[in-house]
Amino acid sequence: MQFLRNVIQWNLFLGAFAFIVSYKPVIIMHGILSGADSMKSLQREIELLHFGTKVYNCDLFSNWFSLENAWKQVNELRDYFQTIGKLHPGGIIVIGHSQGGLLARATIQTMPNHNVKVFISLSSPQAGQYGTNFLHLIFPDLAARTVYELFYSKVGQLTSVANYWNDPRKQDLYRRYSVFLPYINNEIQTSNSSIFRTALTRLDKMVLIGGPDDGVITPWQSSHFGFFNGSLDVIPFNEREIFTSDTIGLKTLADHGKLVIVVKPFVHHLSWHRNRNVIREVILPHLI
Ligand SMILES: *[C@@H]1O[C@H](CO)[C@@H](O)[C@H](O)[C@H]1NC(C)=O
Ligand SMILES: *[C@@H]1O[C@H](CO)[C@@H](O)[C@H](O)[C@H]1NC(C)=O
Repeated sequence: MQFLRNVIQWNLFLGAFAFIVSYKPVIIMHGILSGADSMKSLQREIELLHFGTKVYNCDLFSNWFSLENAWKQVNELRDYFQTIGKLHPGGIIVIGHSQGGLLARATIQTMPNHNVKVFISLSSPQAGQYGTNFLHLIFPDLAARTVYELFYSKVGQLTSVANYWNDPRKQDLYRRYSVFLPYINNEIQTSNSSIFRTALTRLDKMVLIGGPDDGVITPWQSSHFGFFNGSLDVIPFNEREIFTSDTIGLKTLADHGKLVIVVKPFVHHLSWHRNRNVIREVILPHLI
């Protein structure tokens, strides 16, 4: 009898253990002008601390290819997410850094039947980008104030950076020329807008991580969907139309306790995915 009880307890213990270690698989998407290599430390931390996690460190569009048009990247990422999603019917998790977090979010929005359970955005320009520091990472000679002339054109829109360049003083040109951000953020309505919205609300959790010392994403609040208005005041995400009118489902997520906003100071843009405190405190707890 005692023996039987021990066997049962042991099996219960093993069962619980199997449950605990069955972490969901994770896709990691790198940022601009980088690739899977730069995300290795994040991958290693996940594999070490959440032993048994299957991590897919995406190497599509690495380095110079990361400048390709955002829709081109999203269309390939969709195949990638779909293939991995099918291998793991129980659901997957997606983490994107910088531009990778914007592209990953857009990809999820174009997949009405996705099985992404958790999406984590690591300092991504979700509401766009308007700032010299970012611009100079890629184009050292361009000025934020005048670059709209180049970016808001058919040729300019061939590159990802122009696709989410959001000049608060040239909103008419932004809406007329930008082929990506105003669409994926449902600022311009098309037949796809309702899919973009419902697909985002399928998530169990969306975690938006950013902070004031990022130094590159401008304004840094864009990591939470905040952005400049016409006089360059930063309007917090929850006072902007995209949230108040629930155009992409952010408010729905928030109302169901599925939107997590993380403000983390003292982290520079190029270290979010390498910083152990960030990984341990605000990423790992959501990877379940
Ligand atoms: C809607 O999405 C599909 C597939 O992503 C795309 O081919 C099509 O051009 C989009 N339509 C509009 C009006 O944006
Ligand atoms: C921008 O926001 C600030 C603060 O809310 C406000 O005082 C200002 O009038 C706004 N500017 C425009 C152009 O909407």
